[in-house]
Amino acid sequence: MSISVTPCSESQKKPIPEWTQALGFGKFFSDHMFMMEYEDGWKNPRVVPYHSLTMDPASMCLHYGQEIFEGMKVYHGQDDRVYGFRPRDNFARMNRSARRLIMPELDIETAYEGLCELVRADRSWIPPKHGYALYIRPTMIATDAALGVRPANNYLFFMIASPVASYYPQDNDNLNAVKIFVNDKYFRAVRGGTGEAKCAGNYAASLASQWEAKKAGYAQVLWLDALERRNVEEVGTMNIFFVIGDKLVTSPLNGSILPGITRDSVIQLARHQGLTVEERPVSIAEVISGAISGTISEVFGTGTAAVISPVSHIAFCGTEHQVADGQSGPIARRMYADLLAIQYGKREDPFGWTSVIL
Ligand code: COI
Repeated sequence: MSISVTPCSESQKKPIPEWTQALGFGKFFSDHMFMMEYEDGWKNPRVVPYHSLTMDPASMCLHYGQEIFEGMKVYHGQDDRVYGFRPRDNFARMNRSARRLIMPELDIETAYEGLCELVRADRSWIPPKHGYALYIRPTMIATDAALGVRPANNYLFFMIASPVASYYPQDNDNLNAVKIFVNDKYFRAVRGGTGEAKCAGNYAASLASQWEAKKAGYAQVLWLDALERRNVEEVGTMNIFFVIGDKLVTSPLNGSILPGITRDSVIQLARHQGLTVEERPVSIAEVISGAISGTISEVFGTGTAAVISPVSHIAFCGTEHQVADGQSGPIARRMYADLLAIQYGKREDPFGWTSVIL
């Protein structure tokens, strides 16, 4: 499918923000967006000036939550090339989410070409700085104007782009550790539900717990499984890893956990470096006793937005437990450095993850 491009006029262009940590996450949006509509097939793929959407108030996404999204980053390499990190894997995951919510699948190559055209139009919005990136948010919504619960017939797919610094506030671009909170009152997902799909409803369901965590001074929630209330699943915007003895351990993809692309990359990277990685259930009792005894020497989260986020403290049942010395640990730091080196094209990529976008 050929993609048309309508560049914005000089007067439509927005000022580009400064590349400092004040950029934060998801506060600024670039000059263009990609969009295409679905009705018996995807139609009219195009890059157009960024604009507000006009929607019928009966649009089904507003009533029944048929909405899925993705998050991926595009990096300004030190060689001035523009790199994507596993973008086709994000589109493939979006297709898995689409199947779960009875939404139409994307043609992955059309979506990838759309990404390339969007990035070409907004090249000046890619921060030319290590640790910074242009975050792309592919999104699909149901647009039928109709009430009554059924899968829609019409959809809009769009991608917007936001230059970002760190997801969690950092000082001087350091890898700061975050405190997380285990809530045994609310649960994010259950096997057979939508936990492994990237749909807006999962995030809506997480807000009450996240709100409580924030009020108590914690950055994120560590979710327990909803059936036994025993095993850890994932953190609000990240998958979770533990260094237990000499092994890297993470919860298995059991149907209620988001299959993170950074999670998979860290597993592959760690194995490539000779570390033993176990994907197995980890109980909250094991986490707390490991933090107390010191057998758990590191805890860190992984995600596109959060990259690698060390965890300094875990609060459970009214007690806060510090992990090791409460700072980022050596494995988290190494994973962060090695992942970024591949993402910015500074190091050879033996995994075939990087794609040269421009
Ligand atoms: C991501 O890591 O890209 C996410 O989608 C997490 C969050 C910002 C919702």
